[in-house]
Amino acid sequence: MAAGVRPSRPQVLVCLGVLLARWVAAGLEAPVIGEVHENVTLHCGNISGPRGLVTWYRDDSEPVFLLSSNSSFRPAEPRFSLANGSSLHIKALRLQDEGNYTCREVLNETRWFRVWLRVARGPYEVEVNISSTGTLPNGTLYAAKGSQVDFSCSSRSWPPPVVEWQFRAPDSSTEPFGSNLTVSSFILLLMSQNLQGNYTCLATNTLSGRQRKVTTELLVYSPPPSAPQCRAEMSQGQLTLQLTCRWDGGYPDPDFLWTEEPGGVAVGTSKLGVEMLNQSQLSDGKKFKCVGSHIVGPELGASCVVQIRSASLVSEPMKTCFVGSNVTLTCQVSGAYPPAKILWLRNLTQPEVVIRPNGHYLITQNGQSSTLTIRNCSQVLDEGYYVCQAKNPVGVREVDIWLSVKVGNTFRGQDMGDVMVLVDSEEEEVEEEDVAEEEEEEEEEADEREESPKEINKHGHIHRVTALVNGNVDWMGNGLQALQDDSSEEQSDIVQEDRPV
Ligand SMILES: *[C@@H]1O[C@H](CO)[C@@H](O)[C@H](O)[C@H]1NC(C)=O
Ligand SMILES: *[C@@H]1O[C@H](CO)[C@@H](O)[C@H](O)[C@H]1NC(C)=O
Ligand SMILES: *[C@@H]1O[C@H](CO)[C@@H](O)[C@H](O)[C@H]1NC(C)=O
Ligand SMILES: *[C@@H]1O[C@H](CO)[C@@H](O)[C@H](O)[C@H]1NC(C)=O
Ligand SMILES: *[C@@H]1O[C@H](CO)[C@@H](O)[C@H](O)[C@H]1NC(C)=O
Ligand SMILES: *[C@@H]1O[C@H](CO)[C@@H](O)[C@H](O)[C@H]1NC(C)=O
Ligand SMILES: *[C@@H]1O[C@H](CO)[C@@H](O)[C@H](O)[C@H]1NC(C)=O
Ligand SMILES: *[C@@H]1O[C@H](CO)[C@@H](O)[C@H](O)[C@H]1NC(C)=O
Ligand SMILES: *[C@@H]1O[C@H](CO)[C@@H](O)[C@H](O)[C@H]1NC(C)=O
Ligand SMILES: *[C@@H]1O[C@H](CO)[C@@H](O)[C@H](O)[C@H]1NC(C)=O
Ligand SMILES: *[C@@H]1O[C@H](CO)[C@@H](O)[C@H](O)[C@H]1NC(C)=O
Ligand SMILES: *[C@@H]1O[C@H](CO)[C@@H](O)[C@H](O)[C@H]1NC(C)=O
Repeated sequence: MAAGVRPSRPQVLVCLGVLLARWVAAGLEAPVIGEVHENVTLHCGNISGPRGLVTWYRDDSEPVFLLSSNSSFRPAEPRFSLANGSSLHIKALRLQDEGNYTCREVLNETRWFRVWLRVARGPYEVEVNISSTGTLPNGTLYAAKGSQVDFSCSSRSWPPPVVEWQFRAPDSSTEPFGSNLTVSSFILLLMSQNLQGNYTCLATNTLSGRQRKVTTELLVYSPPPSAPQCRAEMSQGQLTLQLTCRWDGGYPDPDFLWTEEPGGVAVGTSKLGVEMLNQSQLSDGKKFKCVGSHIVGPELGASCVVQIRSASLVSEPMKTCFVGSNVTLTCQVSGAYPPAKILWLRNLTQPEVVIRPNGHYLITQNGQSSTLTIRNCSQVLDEGYYVCQAKNPVGVREVDIWLSVKVGNTFRGQDMGDVMVLVDSEEEEVEEEDVAEEEEEEEEEADEREESPKEINKHGHIHRVTALVNGNVDWMGNGLQALQDDSSEEQSDIVQEDRPV
């Protein structure tokens, strides 16, 4: 059989050479396109019906025999086989299979058909390089807002591929970013939030139309624009301190670490920036630092500090009320951080009783200043110690105020054991009394005016009588001034100037 193959070839060659001109004149059909490693079938003309004896050749510098429908001739390679009696089936295509093929059919007459086979390869290895970016643990890339990002994509194929970039923002359609052969790159100079999305590099084989793509998710991260803010507040019935750290406006959310300062002992780490501390962890003047860290923020993070402080109290040590009139006790709290809750207590019994506002008591609070007004003073019920209490998780501070209740008409000569001092109101009132107390004094003055002859009009000057309440003769010389100086030293704590940051 093998001997039979060889004699047939020269015979064919002669005919092929003769007929070559006729094919070119007939014009060529569009090439058949196959892909490397795939199979392809080349048809011997576009003819239906019974077929004659078919022989396939490869057109090289010389025609090369491939296959015949005469089973006496074996195919040149096992990859070649006859399909449907006349077609050439090529398995596992190679790039070298690209070329022109000739089919000779012998029926009543001999006919020649030519087929142009093109072999495509790829695209393979779509290589994407997006820089400069960071990589999250799950592999997703992120870039800092405002940074420059270079996108580059390349791929290999035969013939060379068209490589293009496409961008798809969340919930919007895909937009192309231009294409180029083999390599495509572009630069985004100022990354912004609306450039976050999926970037796809698409490589297309122009011959086969086969496409390959690599999609990369790119997140655009931004640190919070301003500094973090620390806050301490009371929670859960003043027993617990809540530390809150806010550092808003960044994407994604930052992480927070609270530490005790100095020393940096960690209090807690969280996404929320909130920590709860019980009283045992607190002491006056202690500082707590919050460090916010953001993936594209400052390397060392950004921080703020709070300093917690117990309250300082300032109040009058004593007050007088005339029976049936009203009196106002004032309590000024300062330095407390977090701000203190202010209570008035009545020290008649032990334990002391919290005073609730009612028809008799009026409590008003303005910032960290609280006043207790006792209406319609009664000697039996109202005389005694009053306690102003300022409480925050750092501590409880108290100040006692003695209220003396007097019968109003002592001036008329009924000796109640009081010491009276005449004060010229024109000259001394403003000098001697704290500005803070002016309001209160005015209120009392008004009360007094209605009730009893406290004012004496003498030579057109108004004189006012101020009753010193406990009759301590030592204080007489200096009057009210001495009394106040003394009290403020004793009763108020040193007011700290440091403020929490
Ligand atoms: C190619 O054809 C052979 C049979 O001739 C078949 O086994 C194989 O699966 C085919 N390959 C492809 C990629 O179609
Ligand atoms: C094959 O022939 C038929 C009829 O002659 C024609 O309609 C068809 O387009 C042809 N196909 C090709 C690929 O030339
Ligand atoms: C097949 O080829 C052999 C050897 O060349 C030949 O003897 C035989 O006649 C051929 N058969 C046909 C049907 O052409
Ligand atoms: C053989 O012919 C049949 C019917 O004409 C067709 O369906 C089939 O695809 C053909 N096979 C090949 C390999 O061309
Ligand atoms: C096949 O024939 C076409 C048309 O004549 C020609 O353009 C092409 O270069 C040929 N291919 C080869 C591999 O010779
Ligand atoms: C081939 O010739 C036979 C008889 O000579 C005839 O019947 C048949 O139609 C012809 N076929 C073609 C395709 O011309
Ligand atoms: C990616 O591109 C950057 C510059 O654009 C270059 O420095 C880096 O080496 C490239 N990386 C790879 C893996 O090609
Ligand atoms: C990767 O993690 C980031 C941040 O947690 C998330 O936004 C993104 O959707 C994740 N990507 C994938 C593919 O899971
Ligand atoms: C396409 O690539 C060529 C060479 O790599 C380059 O010169 C040209 O600027 C590129 N065009 C575009 C639109 O990227
Ligand atoms: C990227 O595409 C994936 C899959 O379609 C989707 O889950 C993800 O949300 C997209 N990411 C962005 C930022 O659009
Ligand atoms: C005490 O205060 C109440 C309410 O403010 C007021 O109605 C009353 O007249 C005052 N009494 C005196 C004696 O000023
Ligand atoms: C209560 O009053 C008494 C005097 O009556 C005083 O000794 C004591 O310190 C007061 N207690 C408080 C807590 O103020």
